[in-house]
Amino acid sequence: MLDKINHVAIAVADLDAAIAHYKSRYQVEPESREVIETDGVEEAMLRVGDSYVQLIAPTGSDSTVARYLERNGEGLHHIGYEVADVSEALAHLKAAGARLIDNEPRRGGGGALVAFVHPKDGLGTLIELVGAGTAHGA
Ligand code: CO
Repeated sequence: MLDKINHVAIAVADLDAAIAHYKSRYQVEPESREVIETDGVEEAMLRVGDSYVQLIAPTGSDSTVARYLERNGEGLHHIGYEVADVSEALAHLKAAGARLIDNEPRRGGGGALVAFVHPKDGLGTLIELVGAGTAHGA
């Protein structure tokens, strides 16, 4: 069901500082940068080989990422797995009794179809399903 790792997302407090850090330490620069209003985040996508590192920062104090940072500080936020068909993957997960955050696919960053699976069904890690053929998700 999981075809590849589309991106690994890291929650950061200051997106400009995080981008500068990745540039100075790891010589990687963003390929794109986008505000996702519905998720209350601004994201930067840094290409690493065939996948991306996604740096996500909250756009306001009511963002779920703002709450995440308050609880956990900066660090790994979720893993984005690419699937051929997000609806089919969700149907499989529902049948298996998985706890979902999104019951239906929705649009994420770059127009990708995405859906989130609860961390309790990701061994403690928030999981994002990303439709194939799209560069990135939320
Ligand atoms: Co993501």
